[in-house]
Amino acid sequence: MNRFWFFVLFFLSVGFVSAKGKWSSVENGSIWIDTEGNKVQAHAAGFLRVGERWYMIGEDRSVRWRPDVNMYSSTDLQHWTFENKIIRNGVTHPDLGKDRMIERPKLLYCEKTGKFVVWCHWEAGDYSASEAAVFQCDKINGDYEYVWSGRPLGIKSRDCNVFQDEDGTAYFISTIEENQHLGLFRLSDDYLHPVECTVLMEGKRREAPAIVRLGDTYYMLSSACTGWAPNQCMMSWSKSLTSGWSSLVPVGDNVAYETQAASILKIGKKKTPTLLYVGDRWWDKNLPDSPTIIFPIAFQGEKCIFPYHNEFEINMKTGKWKCH
Ligand code: GAL
Repeated sequence: MNRFWFFVLFFLSVGFVSAKGKWSSVENGSIWIDTEGNKVQAHAAGFLRVGERWYMIGEDRSVRWRPDVNMYSSTDLQHWTFENKIIRNGVTHPDLGKDRMIERPKLLYCEKTGKFVVWCHWEAGDYSASEAAVFQCDKINGDYEYVWSGRPLGIKSRDCNVFQDEDGTAYFISTIEENQHLGLFRLSDDYLHPVECTVLMEGKRREAPAIVRLGDTYYMLSSACTGWAPNQCMMSWSKSLTSGWSSLVPVGDNVAYETQAASILKIGKKKTPTLLYVGDRWWDKNLPDSPTIIFPIAFQGEKCIFPYHNEFEINMKTGKWKCH
C-alpha cells in the first residue's frame, strides 16, 4: 500500500470510530485510580459535561475528616484525569477546615454569566450549622472563589444536589428543617442565590436527592437519613418540579446495593439517553476508600429499573451498553 492510500484508510477508520463512538468499560467495587496512579477522591460526586468531556467534582476525604473539593475529568468514565483541587481548606475560605466542612459539592454552568458555580452543604462538625455555600469561577477547572454561605432563605439545609432544567432555570435541592422535608430552591438568574423555596416530600425525611428529566417527566431518587449506613433507595416522579410528586416507590434491593445516590448522568442520545446512576458505597471505617459506584438505570412510566452490575461496557456516543 502506498502512503496515500495508507492515510486515506487511516482517516476513514478514525472517522468511522468517532461516528460510532468508543466503548468503555466501567468496573465497580474498588476505589478508582486516576491517570497519575493516585486514588480518585471525589466522593458524593457532582458532574458537568462539556463537549465530550465529563467533569466530576467531589469530596476529597484523603487528608482529613474535613474534605477539600477535587475535580477530575474523563471522556469515557473509566480514565479520570486529576484537574485541580478547586476548593481548598483554609485557602478558599478561612473557616473551611476549621469551623466548617464541605459535603456533596455539585457543579453548574451559568450561561447568562459565563461562570461555573458550585453549590454544596456547608457544615459544622456536629451538623448543627445546617448551611449551604456557593462558589464560582470563570473557568471550569480553576480555583473557585467563595460567594456566600448560610441557611438558604433562612432555612436549615443539609444533604443537597442541583438540577438545571431545560429552560436554563437552576435549582438547589436539599434536606431541610432537621431532615424533615426536601426544599427545592429556585435560583436567581446568575445561579448564586436562592429566590424561592418549595417544600417537597413533607415529613418524609429524605436525603441524597438526585433529579433527572426525561421528556415532560421529572424523576427523583432519594434515600432515608441513616448516616453512612445504606438504606432503601426510593423513586418519585412528577410532571412538575414544584408539585404533584408521586408517592415513594422502592427501587433495587433494600440497601440500594450498599450505595447512596450522588448523581444521575445522561449518556448518548438527547431524547432517549441511557441513564447512569452514580452512588457512594460509603465505608465509614475508612471513608477515603469508599468507592463510587455506577450502573445503568431506566425509568419506564411509574417504574424504575435499577439493577446493579459489577461491570458493564458503554458506548459514550450512542449510550448503548452491555454487560457480560
Ligand atoms: C449521610 C449524608 C452524607 C453525610 C453523612 C454523615 O446521611 O448523606 O453526605 O452527611 O450522612 O453521617
